[in-house]
Amino acid sequence: MNGNLAEQDFIRLMTFIRDNYGVNLEKKKTLVEGRLRNVIAQAGYADFHDYIEAALGEPSGELLNTIITRLTTNYTYFMREETHYQFMQQQMLPEWTARIRDRDLRTWSAGCATGEEAYTAAMVIQEYLGGEAGRWDATILGTDISTRVLDEAREGVYTAAALERLPPPWRSKYFVDEGGDRFRVSKRLGEQVAFARQNLMEASYSARFKRKFHLIFCRNVMIYYNAETKAAVAGRFFDVLEPGGYLFIGLSETLSGLNSRFEQVAPSIYRRGL
Ligand SMILES: C[S@@+](CC[C@H](N)C(=O)[O-])C[C@H]1O[C@@H](n2cnc3c(N)ncnc32)[C@H](O)[C@@H]1O
Repeated sequence: MNGNLAEQDFIRLMTFIRDNYGVNLEKKKTLVEGRLRNVIAQAGYADFHDYIEAALGEPSGELLNTIITRLTTNYTYFMREETHYQFMQQQMLPEWTARIRDRDLRTWSAGCATGEEAYTAAMVIQEYLGGEAGRWDATILGTDISTRVLDEAREGVYTAAALERLPPPWRSKYFVDEGGDRFRVSKRLGEQVAFARQNLMEASYSARFKRKFHLIFCRNVMIYYNAETKAAVAGRFFDVLEPGGYLFIGLSETLSGLNSRFEQVAPSIYRRGL
Protein backbone atom coordinates (compact mmCIF):
# COMPACT_ATOMS: atom_id res chain seq x y z
CA MET A 1 0.00 0.00 0.00
CA ASN A 2 1.48 3.32 -1.09
CA GLY A 3 1.33 6.83 0.30
CA ASN A 4 -0.82 8.82 2.64
CA LEU A 5 -4.41 9.99 2.63
CA ALA A 6 -4.60 13.08 0.38
CA GLU A 7 -6.65 16.04 1.66
CA GLN A 8 -9.00 15.83 -1.34
CA ASP A 9 -9.79 12.12 -0.80
CA PHE A 10 -10.23 12.73 2.92
CA ILE A 11 -12.73 15.52 2.29
CA ARG A 12 -14.73 13.37 -0.16
CA LEU A 13 -14.95 10.49 2.27
CA MET A 14 -15.60 12.70 5.30
CA THR A 15 -18.41 14.57 3.51
CA PHE A 16 -20.04 11.37 2.32
CA ILE A 17 -19.98 9.82 5.80
CA ARG A 18 -21.29 13.02 7.41
CA ASP A 19 -24.15 13.34 4.94
CA ASN A 20 -25.15 9.68 4.94
CA TYR A 21 -24.40 8.50 8.48
CA GLY A 22 -24.30 11.72 10.51
CA VAL A 23 -20.82 10.91 11.81
CA ASN A 24 -18.54 13.95 11.72
CA LEU A 25 -14.87 13.09 11.15
CA GLU A 26 -13.82 16.62 10.19
CA LYS A 27 -11.00 16.91 12.72
CA LYS A 28 -10.06 13.25 12.58
CA LYS A 29 -7.87 12.89 9.50
CA THR A 30 -5.05 11.18 11.42
CA LEU A 31 -7.47 8.73 12.98
CA VAL A 32 -9.09 7.94 9.62
CA GLU A 33 -5.70 7.44 7.99
CA GLY A 34 -4.44 5.20 10.80
CA ARG A 35 -7.53 3.04 11.02
CA LEU A 36 -7.95 2.57 7.28
CA ARG A 37 -4.32 1.84 6.41
CA ASN A 38 -4.48 -1.85 7.40
CA VAL A 39 -7.96 -2.36 5.99
CA ILE A 40 -6.82 -1.05 2.62
CA ALA A 41 -3.65 -3.13 2.56
CA GLN A 42 -5.62 -6.27 3.44
CA ALA A 43 -8.23 -5.58 0.78
CA GLY A 44 -5.40 -5.37 -1.78
CA TYR A 45 -5.87 -1.76 -2.96
CA ALA A 46 -2.83 0.21 -4.13
CA ASP A 47 -3.56 3.39 -2.20
CA PHE A 48 -6.17 5.42 -0.29
CA HIS A 49 -7.43 7.08 -3.47
CA ASP A 50 -8.29 3.81 -5.23
CA TYR A 51 -9.99 2.40 -2.16
CA ILE A 52 -12.12 5.51 -1.54
CA GLU A 53 -13.10 5.67 -5.22
CA ALA A 54 -14.15 2.01 -5.09
CA ALA A 55 -16.05 2.42 -1.81
CA LEU A 56 -18.02 5.47 -2.90
CA GLY A 57 -18.89 3.96 -6.27
CA GLU A 58 -19.86 0.51 -5.10
CA PRO A 59 -23.61 -0.20 -5.13
CA SER A 60 -23.55 -3.00 -2.52
CA GLY A 61 -22.02 -0.69 0.11
CA GLU A 62 -19.79 -3.48 1.42
CA LEU A 63 -16.56 -1.46 1.49
CA LEU A 64 -18.37 1.45 3.10
CA ASN A 65 -19.72 -0.87 5.73
CA THR A 66 -16.14 -1.86 6.60
CA ILE A 67 -15.07 1.79 6.69
CA ILE A 68 -17.94 2.76 9.01
CA THR A 69 -17.25 -0.17 11.27
CA ARG A 70 -13.59 0.84 11.58
CA LEU A 71 -14.31 4.53 12.13
CA THR A 72 -17.15 4.58 14.63
CA THR A 73 -16.74 4.41 18.38
CA ASN A 74 -18.57 1.40 19.73
CA TYR A 75 -17.72 1.88 23.39
CA THR A 76 -20.48 0.69 25.74
CA TYR A 77 -21.01 -1.34 28.91
CA PHE A 78 -23.70 -2.94 31.06
CA MET A 79 -25.59 -0.56 33.39
CA ARG A 80 -24.10 2.49 31.66
CA GLU A 81 -25.78 5.71 32.82
CA GLU A 82 -27.73 3.87 35.45
CA THR A 83 -30.15 6.72 36.17
CA HIS A 84 -32.08 5.67 33.05
CA TYR A 85 -32.57 2.15 34.38
CA GLN A 86 -33.70 3.59 37.72
CA PHE A 87 -36.16 5.78 35.88
CA MET A 88 -37.48 2.71 34.09
CA GLN A 89 -38.03 0.90 37.41
CA GLN A 90 -39.52 3.84 39.23
CA GLN A 91 -41.57 5.65 36.62
CA MET A 92 -41.67 4.29 33.10
CA LEU A 93 -42.50 0.66 33.84
CA PRO A 94 -45.12 1.28 36.58
CA GLU A 95 -46.82 3.76 34.27
CA TRP A 96 -46.77 1.66 31.13
CA THR A 97 -47.50 -1.75 32.61
CA ALA A 98 -50.64 -0.22 34.10
CA ARG A 99 -51.65 1.31 30.79
CA ILE A 100 -50.82 -1.44 28.25
CA ARG A 101 -53.77 -3.79 27.76
CA ASP A 102 -52.25 -6.45 25.47
CA ARG A 103 -49.05 -7.07 27.49
CA ASP A 104 -46.90 -6.03 24.54
CA LEU A 105 -44.12 -3.68 25.68
CA ARG A 106 -41.75 -2.45 22.97
CA THR A 107 -38.28 -0.96 23.51
CA TRP A 108 -35.70 0.13 20.93
CA SER A 109 -31.98 0.52 21.60
CA ALA A 110 -30.89 2.70 18.66
CA GLY A 111 -27.09 2.64 18.26
CA CYS A 112 -26.84 -0.44 20.45
CA ALA A 113 -23.17 -1.26 19.67
CA THR A 114 -22.32 -4.69 21.17
CA GLY A 115 -25.70 -5.11 22.88
CA GLU A 116 -25.03 -4.29 26.53
CA GLU A 117 -27.67 -1.52 26.59
CA ALA A 118 -30.37 -3.74 25.06
CA TYR A 119 -29.61 -6.66 27.39
CA THR A 120 -29.50 -4.38 30.45
CA ALA A 121 -32.92 -2.99 29.54
CA ALA A 122 -34.20 -6.56 29.08
CA MET A 123 -32.95 -7.56 32.55
CA VAL A 124 -34.46 -4.46 34.15
CA ILE A 125 -37.82 -5.30 32.57
CA GLN A 126 -37.65 -8.97 33.60
CA GLU A 127 -36.81 -7.96 37.18
CA TYR A 128 -39.66 -5.49 37.27
CA LEU A 129 -42.22 -7.94 35.87
CA GLY A 130 -41.02 -10.75 38.16
CA GLY A 131 -43.46 -13.65 38.17
CA GLU A 132 -45.58 -11.93 35.52
CA ALA A 133 -42.73 -11.79 32.99
CA GLY A 134 -43.82 -14.95 31.18
CA ARG A 135 -47.21 -13.41 30.43
CA TRP A 136 -45.67 -10.37 28.71
CA ASP A 137 -44.19 -9.93 25.27
CA ALA A 138 -41.52 -7.44 26.34
CA THR A 139 -39.17 -7.25 23.38
CA ILE A 140 -36.12 -5.09 22.84
CA LEU A 141 -34.86 -4.25 19.37
CA GLY A 142 -31.18 -3.32 19.13
CA THR A 143 -29.99 -1.60 15.94
CA ASP A 144 -26.69 -0.20 14.70
CA ILE A 145 -24.97 0.63 11.42
CA SER A 146 -21.94 -1.49 12.16
CA THR A 147 -22.42 -5.13 11.23
CA ARG A 148 -19.39 -6.18 13.28
CA VAL A 149 -20.91 -4.95 16.56
CA LEU A 150 -24.27 -6.47 15.62
CA ASP A 151 -22.63 -9.87 15.17
CA GLU A 152 -21.14 -9.58 18.66
CA ALA A 153 -24.45 -8.45 20.11
CA ARG A 154 -26.24 -11.43 18.57
CA GLU A 155 -23.57 -13.80 19.84
CA GLY A 156 -24.24 -12.41 23.35
CA VAL A 157 -21.01 -13.63 24.95
CA TYR A 158 -19.23 -11.39 27.47
CA THR A 159 -16.28 -11.67 29.86
CA ALA A 160 -16.53 -11.77 33.66
CA ALA A 161 -15.01 -8.27 33.76
CA ALA A 162 -17.80 -6.99 31.49
CA LEU A 163 -20.46 -8.39 33.84
CA GLU A 164 -18.93 -6.81 36.93
CA ARG A 165 -21.23 -3.79 36.93
CA LEU A 166 -24.35 -5.97 37.09
CA PRO A 167 -25.87 -6.86 40.47
CA PRO A 168 -24.26 -10.24 41.40
CA PRO A 169 -27.57 -12.21 41.41
CA TRP A 170 -28.26 -11.09 37.82
CA ARG A 171 -24.96 -12.57 36.60
CA SER A 172 -25.98 -16.13 37.42
CA LYS A 173 -29.64 -15.59 36.63
CA TYR A 174 -29.19 -14.15 33.12
CA PHE A 175 -25.85 -15.62 31.96
CA VAL A 176 -24.53 -19.12 31.40
CA ASP A 177 -20.88 -19.74 32.30
CA GLU A 178 -19.40 -21.58 29.31
CA GLY A 179 -15.89 -21.69 30.78
CA GLY A 180 -12.83 -19.88 29.44
CA ASP A 181 -14.12 -16.51 30.67
CA ARG A 182 -17.15 -16.71 28.38
CA PHE A 183 -20.57 -15.85 29.76
CA ARG A 184 -23.46 -16.26 27.34
CA VAL A 185 -26.81 -14.52 27.75
CA SER A 186 -29.43 -17.03 28.86
CA LYS A 187 -31.84 -18.47 26.30
CA ARG A 188 -34.70 -16.50 27.81
CA LEU A 189 -32.85 -13.18 27.73
CA GLY A 190 -31.64 -13.86 24.19
CA GLU A 191 -35.19 -14.52 23.03
CA GLN A 192 -36.31 -11.17 24.39
CA VAL A 193 -33.78 -9.19 22.36
CA ALA A 194 -33.39 -9.01 18.55
CA PHE A 195 -30.75 -7.16 16.55
CA ALA A 196 -30.91 -5.59 13.09
CA ARG A 197 -28.98 -3.11 10.96
CA GLN A 198 -30.52 0.33 10.73
CA ASN A 199 -28.92 3.59 9.68
CA LEU A 200 -30.47 6.36 11.78
CA MET A 201 -29.92 8.80 8.91
CA GLU A 202 -32.51 7.05 6.74
CA ALA A 203 -35.46 9.23 5.94
CA SER A 204 -38.21 7.54 7.92
CA TYR A 205 -38.43 4.76 10.46
CA SER A 206 -42.21 4.47 10.35
CA ALA A 207 -42.15 2.27 7.25
CA ARG A 208 -39.89 -0.23 8.99
CA PHE A 209 -41.71 -0.59 12.31
CA LYS A 210 -45.24 -1.93 12.30
CA ARG A 211 -45.98 -0.86 15.85
CA LYS A 212 -44.74 2.11 17.83
CA PHE A 213 -42.33 1.90 20.78
CA HIS A 214 -42.96 2.70 24.43
CA LEU A 215 -39.29 3.48 25.04
CA ILE A 216 -36.33 4.42 22.84
CA PHE A 217 -32.71 4.58 23.96
CA CYS A 218 -30.42 6.62 21.73
CA ARG A 219 -27.51 7.32 24.01
CA ASN A 220 -24.04 8.50 23.03
CA VAL A 221 -24.86 8.16 19.34
CA MET A 222 -25.83 11.70 18.31
CA ILE A 223 -22.83 13.30 20.05
CA TYR A 224 -21.08 14.09 16.78
CA TYR A 225 -24.23 15.09 14.88
CA ASN A 226 -24.80 18.71 14.01
CA ALA A 227 -27.97 20.44 15.26
CA GLU A 228 -29.88 19.88 12.03
CA THR A 229 -29.16 16.14 11.91
CA LYS A 230 -29.94 15.75 15.61
CA ALA A 231 -33.28 17.54 15.18
CA ALA A 232 -34.18 15.33 12.20
CA VAL A 233 -33.30 12.09 14.04
CA ALA A 234 -35.17 13.22 17.19
CA GLY A 235 -38.20 14.04 15.01
CA ARG A 236 -38.17 10.52 13.55
CA PHE A 237 -37.96 9.00 17.03
CA PHE A 238 -40.97 11.12 18.05
CA ASP A 239 -42.97 9.71 15.14
CA VAL A 240 -42.33 6.07 16.10
CA LEU A 241 -43.04 6.53 19.83
CA GLU A 242 -46.44 5.83 21.34
CA PRO A 243 -48.02 8.98 22.82
CA GLY A 244 -46.63 9.02 26.37
CA GLY A 245 -43.52 7.07 25.28
CA TYR A 246 -40.04 8.01 26.45
CA LEU A 247 -36.74 8.81 24.76
CA PHE A 248 -33.44 8.50 26.65
CA ILE A 249 -30.39 10.25 25.24
CA GLY A 250 -26.86 10.26 26.74
CA LEU A 251 -26.36 12.07 30.04
CA SER A 252 -24.00 14.56 28.39
CA GLU A 253 -26.42 15.25 25.51
CA THR A 254 -29.40 17.56 25.12
CA LEU A 255 -32.21 18.31 22.66
CA SER A 256 -32.61 21.86 23.90
CA GLY A 257 -32.52 24.54 21.24
CA LEU A 258 -33.66 22.07 18.57
CA ASN A 259 -37.30 23.02 18.66
CA SER A 260 -38.28 19.38 19.12
CA ARG A 261 -41.83 18.27 19.86
CA PHE A 262 -40.69 16.38 22.97
CA GLU A 263 -41.48 17.37 26.54
CA GLN A 264 -38.43 17.23 28.77
CA VAL A 265 -38.99 15.12 31.89
CA ALA A 266 -35.47 15.26 33.37
CA PRO A 267 -31.99 15.90 31.97
CA SER A 268 -31.57 13.43 29.05
CA ILE A 269 -35.14 12.05 29.46
CA TYR A 270 -37.83 13.16 27.01
CA ARG A 271 -41.42 12.20 26.45
CA ARG A 272 -43.91 12.31 23.60
CA GLY A 273 -46.95 14.04 25.07
CA LEU A 274 -50.17 12.10 25.50
C1 LIG B 1 -20.59 5.00 21.56
S1 LIG B 1 -21.70 3.75 20.95
C2 LIG B 1 -23.01 3.91 22.15
C3 LIG B 1 -23.60 2.58 22.56
C4 LIG B 1 -24.72 2.66 23.61
N1 LIG B 1 -25.87 3.34 23.09
C5 LIG B 1 -24.24 3.30 24.87
O1 LIG B 1 -24.63 4.44 25.18
O2 LIG B 1 -23.43 2.69 25.57
C6 LIG B 1 -22.40 4.55 19.50
C7 LIG B 1 -22.98 3.57 18.48
O3 LIG B 1 -23.79 4.31 17.56
C8 LIG B 1 -23.64 3.74 16.27
N2 LIG B 1 -24.03 4.73 15.26
C9 LIG B 1 -23.40 5.90 14.94
N3 LIG B 1 -24.05 6.52 13.93
C10 LIG B 1 -25.10 5.71 13.58
C11 LIG B 1 -26.12 5.80 12.57
N4 LIG B 1 -26.18 6.82 11.71
N5 LIG B 1 -27.03 4.81 12.52
C12 LIG B 1 -26.97 3.76 13.38
N6 LIG B 1 -26.03 3.62 14.33
C13 LIG B 1 -25.10 4.59 14.44
C14 LIG B 1 -22.16 3.36 16.22
O4 LIG B 1 -21.92 2.35 15.24
C15 LIG B 1 -21.91 2.86 17.66
O5 LIG B 1 -22.04 1.48 17.79
